[in-house]
Amino acid sequence: MKTYTLKSNLTVPALGLGTWKAEKGEVYKAIREAIKIGYRHIDCAAIYGNEEEIGQAFSEAFKEGDVTREELWVTSKLWNTNHKKENVFPALKKTLADLQLDYLDLYLVHWPIAMVPNAAFPFTAESFLSLEEVPVTETWGQMEEANKQGLANHIGVSNFSVKKLKDLLDSAEIKPAFNQVESHPLLQQNDLLEFCNAEGVILTAYSPLGSKDRVNKKENEPDMMNNEVVVKIAEEVGATPAQVLLAWAVNRNTVVIPKSVNPERLKQNFEAAEIELNATQMSAIAQLDQHHRFIDGTFWAVEGGPYTLANLWDE
Ligand code: A2P
Repeated sequence: MKTYTLKSNLTVPALGLGTWKAEKGEVYKAIREAIKIGYRHIDCAAIYGNEEEIGQAFSEAFKEGDVTREELWVTSKLWNTNHKKENVFPALKKTLADLQLDYLDLYLVHWPIAMVPNAAFPFTAESFLSLEEVPVTETWGQMEEANKQGLANHIGVSNFSVKKLKDLLDSAEIKPAFNQVESHPLLQQNDLLEFCNAEGVILTAYSPLGSKDRVNKKENEPDMMNNEVVVKIAEEVGATPAQVLLAWAVNRNTVVIPKSVNPERLKQNFEAAEIELNATQMSAIAQLDQHHRFIDGTFWAVEGGPYTLANLWDE
């Protein structure tokens, strides 16, 4: 498995397992299976509601000798309701307790969106706190503290635009090591990737397969696995279209975290990291960019609230 070396001299595997939408009752098996296949990077988040079951899988995997804690890279994320200074550590400690870990390899600020404690669907204007009320710098100070205390070996952000990432890099004492964003051939994020590369920030690509299993999908969403360019390349290299999407992400030096709970697809996705695409194939995929977001952020843009799609994505 390809890895990237961080400033800490630690390494992160280029392909990890996504756990968003991995349901309770099936995620335990998926994690155990993934570790047996060889996955050494698992991407979690408190809001996915499954960290307790993932923690049981980690604990058993360590006990059975499938893997050691040091061999595993575990990411988790701070939810929007916990951005205030006093809420960051309790949220992190809950995640650590649920995952049955002493430290995370990476802790991310999940969204540049602050919400009141206990805010739940359906969101209204009152669910939100503006970034003037709870600045990212307030949250980040606690993220830095978590890093200093050894609770998170690296800290980073998710869903940050170039502008928001730049503002944070300018003010941070400890720079974000990662920005996790939606990225795939229809949303290549080239400007953001270029900026991240220049600043030594690793870009992690979420929803690399289009997250077809999420609720509230729009009608007539594009299907990347049926895209004719992707299908043609899959035939050329003797792989599945899903593998081509993942290989593309690894070949352009991003981290990628496909979700699966199916043993065959887990294996298939893991093996995709070894597929090399040639320059012609990479440039054919480069032509597919449409700036199409599957996760467009509309759930944050409620009437009368502080967030809009324009001020979320800065575009
Ligand atoms: P499953 O968990 O049953 O394998 P994303 O990573 O973009 O969020 O996409 C996850 C979705 O893609 C899930 O519905 C997952 O289903 C499906 N999926 C994962 N791997 C593959 C694959 N290799 N081929 C087809 N579908 C896949």
